[in-house]
Amino acid sequence: MLTRNLGQALAALIAALIVAANVASAQSPALDPKEAAAAKTEAVQQRVQPLNNQPVWKEVRSGAPQVTTVTGRETNVLVLPQGQTWRAARNDLVSLGGLLLAIAVGALAVFYLLRGTMAVAVKPGDRVIERFTPPDRYAHWLLAIVWVTLAITGLVLSLGKTVLLPLIGYTLFSWLATVAKNLHNFIGPILIIAVPWMFVRFVRHNGIGIEDLRWFANIIGYFKGHEYPSGKFNAGEKLVFWLVLVVFSTVLVVTGLILVFPNFDQSRSTMQLANVVHMIAAYLAIALACVHIYLGTVGMDGAYRAMRDGYVDASWAQHHHQHWYEDVVAGKAREKFVQPETVVAHGQMPRSRAA
Ligand code: HEM
Repeated sequence: MLTRNLGQALAALIAALIVAANVASAQSPALDPKEAAAAKTEAVQQRVQPLNNQPVWKEVRSGAPQVTTVTGRETNVLVLPQGQTWRAARNDLVSLGGLLLAIAVGALAVFYLLRGTMAVAVKPGDRVIERFTPPDRYAHWLLAIVWVTLAITGLVLSLGKTVLLPLIGYTLFSWLATVAKNLHNFIGPILIIAVPWMFVRFVRHNGIGIEDLRWFANIIGYFKGHEYPSGKFNAGEKLVFWLVLVVFSTVLVVTGLILVFPNFDQSRSTMQLANVVHMIAAYLAIALACVHIYLGTVGMDGAYRAMRDGYVDASWAQHHHQHWYEDVVAGKAREKFVQPETVVAHGQMPRSRAA
């Protein structure tokens, strides 16, 4: 009886194994010898030279259809061949961008050590001009705060792995990168409002003419303290307006939206292109913005006060923006002299009096 039961159990087990083997062979087709040889070569290469697996990438780049369960635009594309090209281009761009920024910041530091803050002697009893109205300043500071936050968080994401990770370690860097990524993604779209608002408020003083070329021809004089006369904004400021604000910021907004909303059926190659353009625009714009921020703070006395409180001394205006100063004196400019009492009433002492 026991022998018969054992015999039945053994027969059932053998039958189950045969069925399982048939099912498995039906699901995974046998490799043909060529494929088997290729897989073997790939496996060997992976062991011998893991970072240079030519057979794998040759197959990936062949574009031969694969099988995925993902639905949508790029179904059955396991690895995008141009993803490798994008990655290589991106890594080169990060290095070049980092170098550009280091040169810009280094050059400004050297210039500051040699030249110090560029200052204008304020005459006693000097009059004060309201250079920027509150709406001008609100538009500028909304843009500046959002833009600088995006620049810093963008740099953490782009250069952080190379520069910060070795310094602060994985735990802190992963927190920092997560915060940077979320801030970057969530505040980026604010530029859709901030850039046009700034454009509308400042465009009337940023027309370009032959005098701007002359100003650039005399750029050495600018840094030596002998400025070529300019209107409300000089040619350097107009460059910031047209390049950093209009061209680069618009490019950054458009490419940023393509990257942050991947749900509009854009392909991965579109996003890779958007990423490369986003990076080029960002590094060039940040390098120029460094010069702008330097001149707007420690580089030039009186400039920051103009954007913080709105006021400049007449001697500042005459020295830095002679044509604009003459228009204010002649009553032709929108900006007017203000009484020192008004300035004091707003809590801002004119420099000539505060001294
Ligand atoms: C902390 C950051 C910043 C500081 C301290 C700063 C400072 C200043 C100052 C002091 C002025 C007035 C200059 C004058 O009176 O002639 C100014 C003007 C201006 N700023 Fe900024 N700024 C900053 C960020 C930015 C950014 C990120 C942008 C552009 C994306 C920008 C675009 C402009 C423009 C367009 C003007 C008007 C001058 C022109 O039309 O070129 N600023 N800024």
